Amino acid sequence: MVKVIEELKEKALQRIAEAKNVNDLNEMKAEYLGKKSKLQEIMAKMREFTVEEKKAIGMKANQFKMAIEEAINKQLEKLKDDEVNKKLESELIDVTLPGKEFSNGALHVLTKTIEELEDIFIGMGYSIAEGPEIEEDLFNFEMMNLPKDHPARDMQDTFYITEKNLMRTHTSPVQARVMLEAKGKPIKVVCPGKVYRRDNDDATHSHQFMQIEGLVVDEKITMADLKGALTQVFSKILGENTKVRFRPSYFPFTEPSVEVDVSCFKCHGVGCPLCKGNGWIEVLGAGMVHPNVLRMAGYDPERYQGFAFGIGIERLTMLKYGIDDVRSFYVNDPRFTKEF
Ligand code: PHE
Repeated sequence: MVKVIEELKEKALQRIAEAKNVNDLNEMKAEYLGKKSKLQEIMAKMREFTVEEKKAIGMKANQFKMAIEEAINKQLEKLKDDEVNKKLESELIDVTLPGKEFSNGALHVLTKTIEELEDIFIGMGYSIAEGPEIEEDLFNFEMMNLPKDHPARDMQDTFYITEKNLMRTHTSPVQARVMLEAKGKPIKVVCPGKVYRRDNDDATHSHQFMQIEGLVVDEKITMADLKGALTQVFSKILGENTKVRFRPSYFPFTEPSVEVDVSCFKCHGVGCPLCKGNGWIEVLGAGMVHPNVLRMAGYDPERYQGFAFGIGIERLTMLKYGIDDVRSFYVNDPRFTKEF
């Protein structure tokens, strides 16, 4: 019997070592150690043997069980390891392959101009204010001293959404909003943002563009303050010795009103193609806040004065970087946007 068990063990161990999956192993476990196993059959016949034989068979049987259990556990481990290794192999990363290029975005050149201007104004003590692009007629026109049927409304024809609401034609309505909010207190703000007009697009016109509005309201504000502020801003943005010149103009919301020119930063006033030979470049409209505008927003024009200006962001950016078509800002051509 001892020999039978020995042979059974040899064969079992061999089969276990060759098992390819967990199921097979479980079946073998039942076959060799379960209630209907050959070993159990032998044990059932134990009565027939002598004491000596019983001892020897019992010992062999114990060794058999231990050996089979150990072999099964070992094989289970091995199968698990194999599986992990296979997985690792299939997920192998070739670190020598070239990487995927990740292209970084950058700020749009108009955003860069606005941020540059904002930084300069913040450095001069201004705060930033914003208003809605869908604006009320009330703020865009009426409170800017442009009552209904005022002929100057023609200069800023726009897209009406309802009779009351329109796409704002300039950032000036933010002036009225800021003044109402300040409730009679002094003001020093700039207001950047998009504006819209009914215009046929060409190299110098766009139905959508950007402005930055400036508004300063306090006691004893004069045009000298306006000139000083603008001189400081443009010498920072266009070059240190940039000069500023005022020419008389008309806006309904300022009195007096001016067109503001800067000395050409290319030729420094001598005359070149950029300034079309006259040494000066027109960059913005400005003026002293009209008494009607102050009054409508709750300021006493006898006590308070203010200046206001509106800088066109596209025009300034075109001058600064030598861009010749305003449409290139809006067509999203990466060859253009990557230039800056
Ligand atoms: N709002 C004017 C425009 O868009 C510019 C401007 C602003 C003029 C402030 C004077 C004062 O044309």
